[in-house]
Amino acid sequence: MRLQVFLSRNGVSSRREALEIVKAGTVEVNGTVIDEPSFEVDPTKDRVMCKGITIEPKPYKYILMNKPKNVTTTKFDPHATKTVYDILPKHFNFVAPVGRLDRDTEGLLLLTNDGDVAHALTHPSFKVEKTYYACVEGRLDGESKTKLETGVYLDGIKTAPCHIQILRKSKEMTEVRITLHEGRNRQVRRMFAKVKTRVKFLQRIEQGPLKLGNSKPGWWRELTTEEVAALKEIVQKNRLKEEQVSDSIVTRKPGSGKSFWKSKALKKLKPKQKINIRSKKVYGRK
Ligand code: URA
Repeated sequence: MRLQVFLSRNGVSSRREALEIVKAGTVEVNGTVIDEPSFEVDPTKDRVMCKGITIEPKPYKYILMNKPKNVTTTKFDPHATKTVYDILPKHFNFVAPVGRLDRDTEGLLLLTNDGDVAHALTHPSFKVEKTYYACVEGRLDGESKTKLETGVYLDGIKTAPCHIQILRKSKEMTEVRITLHEGRNRQVRRMFAKVKTRVKFLQRIEQGPLKLGNSKPGWWRELTTEEVAALKEIVQKNRLKEEQVSDSIVTRKPGSGKSFWKSKALKKLKPKQKINIRSKKVYGRK
């Protein structure tokens, strides 16, 4: 298992943060500092330490929480007054939130130490759908709805198409169900702001196969076997997809007769670099 994955699976941080933690040289494997995130570790034999603390491999846990408003999901936020870890019993402090949910947003939050599940649910390429119930100010008109559904620009990048179902409408307020597969920062609130509409209440009600159901904010439970199986199915699909991509990553093989091997992109490649045939993205040191 890669060191970066080991750290995220055992509750040290998210996968992305684990990359930085390893690169910063704060992780030791069997007493040697390792700054290569892809370094292979065997959780049954190797002793991994992060900032001087031994990281014990944990069994996988999956918690579904109805996150209340004014509770922060970030594990390491010194400014947070209350976090989701104040709601969970102490022995679950090794699970990490899957994706972001703002402090002022309620609803479905999955917490797990299964890095593969977290990765599959949040990686944009996999397009796992998230559905929110939102109450927005005023009467949302057809033009604004279409604009939101076809995409608006946030930070110069157009949002992917989404689906909006109007549940109720009055002069003061519109209630909607909005389904999207992206997970950009404060995406729903910022999208509605683009059509000059303020979100008054936001609650995540579904994420992939998981549903919030009828529950009170602050309530939590472990996932059922069926729910875990449904998540593993997504991981499996993701794995097949990633294998297809990595099949198209090749190293330089000078002298081959096929047309790709004569391409400009490949000629520029250094011997230790790799290239994705489709995207032409280059991997490895320059
Ligand atoms: N969109 C938001 O604006 N906030 C969230 O917490 C989630 C999605």
